Amino acid sequence: MSLLDKHGALERNATLLLASSLVVVAIGGLVEITPLFYLESTIEKVEGVRPYTPLELKGRDIYIREGCYVCHSQMIRPMRDEVERYGHFSLAAESMYDHPFQWGSKRTGPDLARVGGRYSDQWHVDHMWNPRDLVPESIMPAYPHLIETELEFDHVAQNLAAQQVVGVPYTDEGVEAAKADLLAQMDPDDELGGYDGLVERYGEDVNIRNFDGTPKVTELDALIAYLQVLGTMVDFSTYEVEASR
Ligand code: HEC
Repeated sequence: MSLLDKHGALERNATLLLASSLVVVAIGGLVEITPLFYLESTIEKVEGVRPYTPLELKGRDIYIREGCYVCHSQMIRPMRDEVERYGHFSLAAESMYDHPFQWGSKRTGPDLARVGGRYSDQWHVDHMWNPRDLVPESIMPAYPHLIETELEFDHVAQNLAAQQVVGVPYTDEGVEAAKADLLAQMDPDDELGGYDGLVERYGEDVNIRNFDGTPKVTELDALIAYLQVLGTMVDFSTYEVEASR
């Protein structure tokens, strides 16, 4: 009886085929899943990654609301063409406070994982107003309403609290001071006096300025604050890939 004949027996008996398929798939699954239980962590330890500031978190919500992820990924794969174009490949740690993560699955536009600091705020203002003013062949939609719409941030403390529930290490004081922190990021002299707390909680490197240049706190301020921090938290001049893995 050749091997092929034996396989014939499998093919003629539906129950046997189903049971054997399950066994084969289970082996594949175990090979992939079991090692994960023996790893201390699947996220490499890196310095610099911090939770988003309240303003950045609001900007991230707008990014999701507007469906930017439909055309933009935020995940640089460790392949030469990507690394040369976008910069160091993405680390798991860089999205550990992203709930939900924004890796995306389609690149109609470029990857945005490291777009922070690549352009000026004014570039983003003009680009969102009408992408074709800057990139004539762009097919990206215009988002002029963002600079015209005031940011709703009455509930920003609850936004942080919700992130806390899913494991982002915001402190209770940070949640309570969310509104003051948000305003201080736009204006260090804001009357709620959040500047010191903002820097204490989120570090010296936080971008503090009026992002869209208008006196109001707009949705565009939040979105640009978010875009400008993307991929800038880890200092790659000091980061080394662990050789042990
Ligand atoms: C229909 C697809 C589409 C959508 C939706 C979209 N974009 Fe784009 N985006 C593009 C394309 C194409 C480009 C490249 C041409 C250009 O710069 O305009 C681009 C470029 C960009 C760039 C410049 C990136 C670089 O490295 O040069 C930024 C920043 C950006 N988009 C942000 C956003 C944000 C924020 C949103 C949501 C508010 C958004 N995009 C929605 C298609 C899209």
